[in-house]
Amino acid sequence: MQQTISSPRQLSGQLRVPSDRSITVRGALLGSIAQGACRIEGYLDSDDTRAAIQIMRQLGVSIEQDQRALTVHGRGLRGLRPADAALHCDSSGTTMRLLAGLLAGQSFGSVLDGSAQLRRRPMRRVTEPLSRMGARITDTDGCAPLRIQSAALRGIDYTLPIASAQIKSALLLAGLYADSPATIHEPVITRDHTERLLAAMGARLERHADCIHLEPPQAGLHAITLRTPADFSSAAFFLVAGCIHPQARLRLTGVGLNPTRTGLLDALEAMGAQVAVEARAVDAGGEPVGDLIASSSALRGIAVGGEQVARMIDEFPIFAVAATQAQGTTVVRDAEELRVKESNRIDGLVEELRKMGARIDATPDGFIVEGPTRLRGAVVDGRCDHRIAMALAVAALAADGETVITGAECVSKTYPGFFSDLASLCAEAVS
Ligand code: S3P
Repeated sequence: MQQTISSPRQLSGQLRVPSDRSITVRGALLGSIAQGACRIEGYLDSDDTRAAIQIMRQLGVSIEQDQRALTVHGRGLRGLRPADAALHCDSSGTTMRLLAGLLAGQSFGSVLDGSAQLRRRPMRRVTEPLSRMGARITDTDGCAPLRIQSAALRGIDYTLPIASAQIKSALLLAGLYADSPATIHEPVITRDHTERLLAAMGARLERHADCIHLEPPQAGLHAITLRTPADFSSAAFFLVAGCIHPQARLRLTGVGLNPTRTGLLDALEAMGAQVAVEARAVDAGGEPVGDLIASSSALRGIAVGGEQVARMIDEFPIFAVAATQAQGTTVVRDAEELRVKESNRIDGLVEELRKMGARIDATPDGFIVEGPTRLRGAVVDGRCDHRIAMALAVAALAADGETVITGAECVSKTYPGFFSDLASLCAEAVS
């Protein structure tokens, strides 16, 4: 599928972007091992979450699905059943890595597999520490398929060598099945949705500075009702669109504002963006939410690195687009993880944004952008990466002439309705 986009005269309106992918996947997994029915209201329905839901069904869990909610009939910590085939995670790295942890301590074996794209992504980062817990898990040259055999797990005291919520979550899920506590040291804080959910479900989990301590539950996890906020990482595209378009004012409602996710807000503020937060609240499940209002802004270049990187790890494609419109130099450091996401995001961004005239160079651990540049429409490719495709669509809103995005269907990984939502804010410019 290809999408043609040109700059609208005006960008305005209100939008509730789809719900959070990270929270929906965690809700499906943790709900499956709770005691009783968990209700996940306003869940995300996208390729990634469908893969997670389908797998939990294969493992014997009954999951009802209607427009408004998922009802996950939890089978308790020991109630999952062996699947009769490999568990296919599609392209969802979160699903695969978290399930590696959840399945390592079961009384049956499993095989985790995925798309060609997922099979290229590194998995030893989870298989290695899980093996230290006693898991019998083998990868395939460091990647999927993963073969998991039944094992008795022990606790672990582990310092994350990479800032990764997926590794942390895999170890916490395995820790539910261990004979002693799991203590995880996190030198750089990453998204903490797993910890919040576990705590809401009654797990004995404590957090002290950069250390998380989980006691294996004696009495299991209790069922909860969860309201899923709009995904900050999806809102991010419109947040930047509102800032870089010269005639824009957009309101994004009910967005998850978990501070472990909102590094882009801090970056935009440092760039001088006109972004306001209103209607702050806390949703069921313990996640902070609010409305974001973004208006046309005069941006200036900044440097991003260190702990902020993990808090905006999924936002670098759209941040690069913002940087092309900022006055001066923008430098991103300490972000080598971008090379092992759905695609090599550093090389992909540089190659695609250059086609539109951007002045952007790759570095080993990030990129450097000189701005502002008047972008020009071009034929660009989404690189089978939802966030690259959506970032290029936003770049097209600030470009002269038409931009054609090939391979645009990949947005369905997290945001199936992205192009129609975009069209609703700028009726005449998207086809
Ligand atoms: C995610 C964690 C991040 C992020 C990914 C979703 C999660 O990955 O990039 O899109 O839901 O835990 P890492 O933990 O590998 O950094």
